[in-house]
Amino acid sequence: MTETSGGSPERPQFGESFTAHMVTSVWTAHEGWSPLRLGPHAALSLSPAAVGLHYGQAVFEGLKAHRGADGTVGVFRPEDHAARMADSARRLSMPPVPGDMFLRAVDLLVAADQDALPSDPGLSLYLRPLLFASEANLALRPAREYTFVLIAFVTGGFFADGPEPVPVWVSSRYTRATPGGTGGVKFAGNYAPTYLAQEEALRAGCRQVVWLDSQERRWVEELGGMNLFFVRGSGSGAHVVTPPLGGTLLPGVTRDSLLRLAARLGYEPREERIAVDQWRDECAAGTITETFASGTAAVVTPVGTVRYGEEEWKVGTGGAGPVTLALLDALIDAQTGGSRSPEGWVRTV
Ligand code: COI
Repeated sequence: MTETSGGSPERPQFGESFTAHMVTSVWTAHEGWSPLRLGPHAALSLSPAAVGLHYGQAVFEGLKAHRGADGTVGVFRPEDHAARMADSARRLSMPPVPGDMFLRAVDLLVAADQDALPSDPGLSLYLRPLLFASEANLALRPAREYTFVLIAFVTGGFFADGPEPVPVWVSSRYTRATPGGTGGVKFAGNYAPTYLAQEEALRAGCRQVVWLDSQERRWVEELGGMNLFFVRGSGSGAHVVTPPLGGTLLPGVTRDSLLRLAARLGYEPREERIAVDQWRDECAAGTITETFASGTAAVVTPVGTVRYGEEEWKVGTGGAGPVTLALLDALIDAQTGGSRSPEGWVRTV
């Protein structure tokens, strides 16, 4: 999934070099959650019979801390990530990490490791909370012991070349999510099944997979592990459109942030389905002028060209469009607690 290559101190490789600490807590049916423990980032001791390894009872989150212009470090919308992780846990029959505990864990780790975050505004501290079933028991039922762990690394963004447009590949063979399934939560098992499609995309000279709905194989849902946005029109009359959530799409915190920031910038935000042939035709007609993906890791990533079977089309000029760049700028301002950051989005540590 990781797209970066050849990390450097200025642009570290995504998820490769971790900070010095981690926070852990263990839940048991008898005792509930143990007190949060801040310790050195180290290997966990785990039974080979741990349920999470066998039956996939595991969920995670991805959120970021940024250094603001005044040097303070703030975490972007951690309450929303805590709520999403609790939703994910419930879907996988796991005990949700209480919101206040999630926030205390974030505060502990960011306070301990914030010196690892340089002042370079292109870098952020990516926080990865993980909750998995650690009980050693292979009975096919929800586990009775869970481990929560929070780790972190410095990142410069998901794609090595930042907001450069990427070519994308529409998968006709594979799908990511089905109605009634787990596509709407951050379940660990949603990710490995996408690797085969990603390989197919890479073979076709593309960088990411566009996921269509699993029933009609027609409606555009997501891009890799990111949400997708389409811009219709241009200038102040532009609309920013993203597929509606319906259980098969991940409710991205960045997606929600961009919908709100779009409205503030005067672009009408819409949640509407877009079919793949409509995407092609509207690009040809010039109605869809830009397309971009969003996610905690990817931030805002423009889509330059689309390949779908034998067809290929360019989105707009094939470069990063003005609405995409305006939204990226507003998002970075919001994440770093800038003057336009909506109230309550950044939790200063
Ligand atoms: C994120 O955007 O934070 C993700 O979790 C996507 C992926 C790297 C797993």
